Amino acid sequence: MKGIILAGGSGTRLHPLTLVTSKQLLPVYDKPMIYYSLAILMEADIKDILIISTPLDTPRFQELFKDGSALGLNLSYKVQDAPNGIAEAFILGKEFINDEECALILGDNIFYGDNLREKLQNARENALKGKATVFGYEVKDPERFGVIEFNLENKAISIEEKPLKPKSNFAVTGLYFYPKNVTKLASTIKPSKRNELEITDLNKLYLESNTLYVERLDNSYIWMDAGTIDSLYNASKVIKNLEDNDKLVGCIELISLKKKWINKEEFNKLIMKSSKSSYCDFLFKHIEGEK
Ligand code: TTP
Repeated sequence: MKGIILAGGSGTRLHPLTLVTSKQLLPVYDKPMIYYSLAILMEADIKDILIISTPLDTPRFQELFKDGSALGLNLSYKVQDAPNGIAEAFILGKEFINDEECALILGDNIFYGDNLREKLQNARENALKGKATVFGYEVKDPERFGVIEFNLENKAISIEEKPLKPKSNFAVTGLYFYPKNVTKLASTIKPSKRNELEITDLNKLYLESNTLYVERLDNSYIWMDAGTIDSLYNASKVIKNLEDNDKLVGCIELISLKKKWINKEEFNKLIMKSSKSSYCDFLFKHIEGEK
């Protein structure tokens, strides 16, 4: 199974922070924002990952992660010339996906939850069985998102992009798992009124063919998109609070070690560069539990 991190966009809501820096490289407490989305794909046992970003920012991600081998990953990169929509990831990633199943995560999304690994594994299995999975999360401002309507049996019956009158409070989060046919289906989507290839239109195709599973994340889970200054600030506070309570979030080096994608020696080499940081102290403090 392949994975894509979409880490482009304009980040205009974070100006002036993002005038010369990529949103997904901004700090969320003690690490760059993209660590959190990369960690989610890694927890789903995805090692072949494509990072898509802007012409200006793609080299910065390359500089940060190189080919990924230090983490036991196989990373590649692709430029998105303009923010033409989230579903464009599957057009740009066609060769990379190579007709395999593929997960997509937005580089400014942060997920946390005790049973998240299990849910990721389910989504993976669904994809292998030909079903797509999206993750629904209850929000106060659904009109900003793709919104899922459920029937009395809790089955998803519609998805609407940024509706004026949302039919529920369940937003589609920025994490999606798709079966083998995803590039083929994505190539049939036409640009929307705002001239974007909408991920909601792709999800609707799966819904219409009865191959969309909506995994609801209840309020024991945390989902944050760090795209506004308040949500970015809040995300840092939430991560600090979790780490103060010895919870690991976005610690990609520890995930690689735990999954035996790297050994202890490689782990030490990897984090030695950051040896003076509190992030490094935090990793060392938790290394024992992660063996
Ligand atoms: P948004 O937050 O909707 O857009 P943005 O990042 O451009 O920010 P702003 O509204 O402040 O200008 O995008 C969600 C995520 O998806 C974000 O991580 C950027 C990414 N994205 C792309 O990489 N390419 C795209 O074409 C789109 C639409 C989004």
